[in-house]
Amino acid sequence: MTPIAADPDRRVWSLSTPNTTYAMHVAPDGRLVQLYWGARLSVDEVVPLTQQRTTASGSSFHLPGDVEEQLPVDGGTRWGVPSLQVTFPGGVRSAELEFAGDTVEAEENGHRLDLAFTDGHFPLHVVLHYRVREDSDVVERWVTLKHLGAEGEEPFVIGRADSGSWLAPERADYRYSAVTGAWAAETQLVREHMPFGEFTLANRCGNTGHHANPWLMLDDGTATEEHGEVWGVALAWSGTWRITAQRRFEGRLAVTAGFGHDGVTWQLRPAEELTTPPTLGVYTDGGFGAASRAWHRHARAYVLPHPEAVRPVLYNSWEAVWFDVNEQSQLEIARKAADLGVELFVMDDGWFGKRTNDRAGLGDWWPNPDRFPNGLGPLADGVRKLGMAFGLWVEPEMVNPDSDLYRAHPDWTIHFPHRRRDELRQQLVLNFGRDDVRAWAHGWLDRLVADHGIDFLKWDMNRAISQGGWPERAGDQDRLWIEHTRGVYEVIDRLRSTHPRLRIESCSGGGGRVDYGILARTDEVWTSDNTDAYHRQSIQHGYSQLYPAAAMAAWVTDSPNPITGRTVPLEYRFHVAMSGVLGIGGNLHEWSSEELAQAREWIAAYKRIRVAIQHGDQYRLGAEPGRGLSAVEYVHGDDVVVFVYHPHATVSPAPGHLRLVGLDPDASYQEVALTTGERGHTATGRVLMAAGLPVRRRVAGGDWSSAAVRLQRIR
Ligand code: GLA
Repeated sequence: MTPIAADPDRRVWSLSTPNTTYAMHVAPDGRLVQLYWGARLSVDEVVPLTQQRTTASGSSFHLPGDVEEQLPVDGGTRWGVPSLQVTFPGGVRSAELEFAGDTVEAEENGHRLDLAFTDGHFPLHVVLHYRVREDSDVVERWVTLKHLGAEGEEPFVIGRADSGSWLAPERADYRYSAVTGAWAAETQLVREHMPFGEFTLANRCGNTGHHANPWLMLDDGTATEEHGEVWGVALAWSGTWRITAQRRFEGRLAVTAGFGHDGVTWQLRPAEELTTPPTLGVYTDGGFGAASRAWHRHARAYVLPHPEAVRPVLYNSWEAVWFDVNEQSQLEIARKAADLGVELFVMDDGWFGKRTNDRAGLGDWWPNPDRFPNGLGPLADGVRKLGMAFGLWVEPEMVNPDSDLYRAHPDWTIHFPHRRRDELRQQLVLNFGRDDVRAWAHGWLDRLVADHGIDFLKWDMNRAISQGGWPERAGDQDRLWIEHTRGVYEVIDRLRSTHPRLRIESCSGGGGRVDYGILARTDEVWTSDNTDAYHRQSIQHGYSQLYPAAAMAAWVTDSPNPITGRTVPLEYRFHVAMSGVLGIGGNLHEWSSEELAQAREWIAAYKRIRVAIQHGDQYRLGAEPGRGLSAVEYVHGDDVVVFVYHPHATVSPAPGHLRLVGLDPDASYQEVALTTGERGHTATGRVLMAAGLPVRRRVAGGDWSSAAVRLQRIR
């Protein structure tokens, strides 16, 4: 059965995913509305809904129908949040779109529906695209705008081009889940009552952002981690963006998502097309946990470039030595890392140009001759001889004014004439919208990777974009906000296609650039510069709402933590970092032999269970991380891994049992000691889910008690 069914007479299209249906309808008044989004229905069940549409009646002051539209325009009798805003020649606004046809197409990995519209007067062509996959509940949508006028005709000014608006079905109440945060405090989960009016999450910084992430989930206020209906909307874009939910008094709620921030305009010239990034939507009746698992599965199946690859354990000396890198000291620490079982050695900032601190050198991407007198070859070879892959930190979009690059090309930075170029971290941003800048960046990155067989790049972006001008594009400078991000994507894509073995980590002062756009071209994300295991628990909890553990890099670093000063036992630090892609980032010269031995054991143990962590289904259990006992469980085939955390001893005892989720009730699971492989206690899935896994003896201690439990299905 095709996942896209249509009733052309009634102008209904119904998209089916394994568990859900998403349906649209061109209403008699010509508006394209969302007919249904929820549990799976057949097209025959969906079509009669066209007769039952109960748009609350309006008045001469408002017509409440625009919230149900798939792409409400700025125009006609609409006063809601427009998803599409166009100014036509002569300053004419108020687009009038008319349905112009549909196309259904089978693609290699899914099915696609295009619904086309044209303006009744001006040559504007608008196509709403939809894609569904046979094994994912995520619906993908995006929009293409095209100016069909002849050369020489005036451009259309696009003030807003969202990828789509999603209608949450009528419920008695609404609540939203989202993340907020800051540098070193990313992805803090917020779950609040949805107010009436307009609620906007946005980013104007030019990366994805630390203070919000482009997604929003909705429920009626009763969903829990494993129960209840949840609707989720995300945007796959790494530049500025806006997601606005509007909750109406008449009982409707819509979420429109798109790239660019308010005020940014795009001049659409004759024959030019503007394609928006995808917005993704998911529905589940299995609670927030099921929503996250649907996102994770989708990311693994259709977003990440190499989801099947097992992520290596890496070492990075940033927190150990900061900018103080050189051939000899890096090799010394590499030996220690290799001895622990590390598989990938990454040299961070400080290896190039005059970059001995953050005041100079960005842009001069050749090895610092004082630190690497023979180039990077000896270090790269040395690392490989130790049996590890070799990676490097780069920050291609940035330049320090104190650099040869800036002295030669001051015009390459993002700037306006007659305006200051404000520095942050003593750096400016190169305009990746420019062809010459992209050619330069691709050129040196390509040589660097080729010359040293670089296996891994940590691609950083350490400041927000300000004074976003592009003087050569006077009159249309705002396209910088879109073209810069597209330019970054293009350089990464080119680099990956010439170097298919290359793996890339996305970083922007920690987790400032994580979204489904960058994840389509990077393998993991540096989740946060904050490596304090306690803070990391809430950061990782928020991260996991949308993004899978396979893309969540987590290091074990020194204690007291260099950023927060908190002292946390090594075992707890390992248990937190092992719940994602494990890395080591401490100063190994200062670790005692017992600590090194413990680390070796934990790294070996991680390698035995990482497939379940990186590729399995993830369940969040227990209390909010950091408060009381919390846990993360992964289920992958016969393998189950559970990390239990109890950071603070409390007056009352820790819970005795932790009820697991997602097991086969009739199967038997046996505990296998993580480090020794010793086999232990057996219980059925039913018992582990109904009565629970006994945990008190494992986390009965004082502060910072944690446990890692491995279970295997034996029959
Ligand atoms: C950013 C990153 C860090 C490190 C530094 C180097 O802050 O998030 O991990 O790479 O840059 O300057």
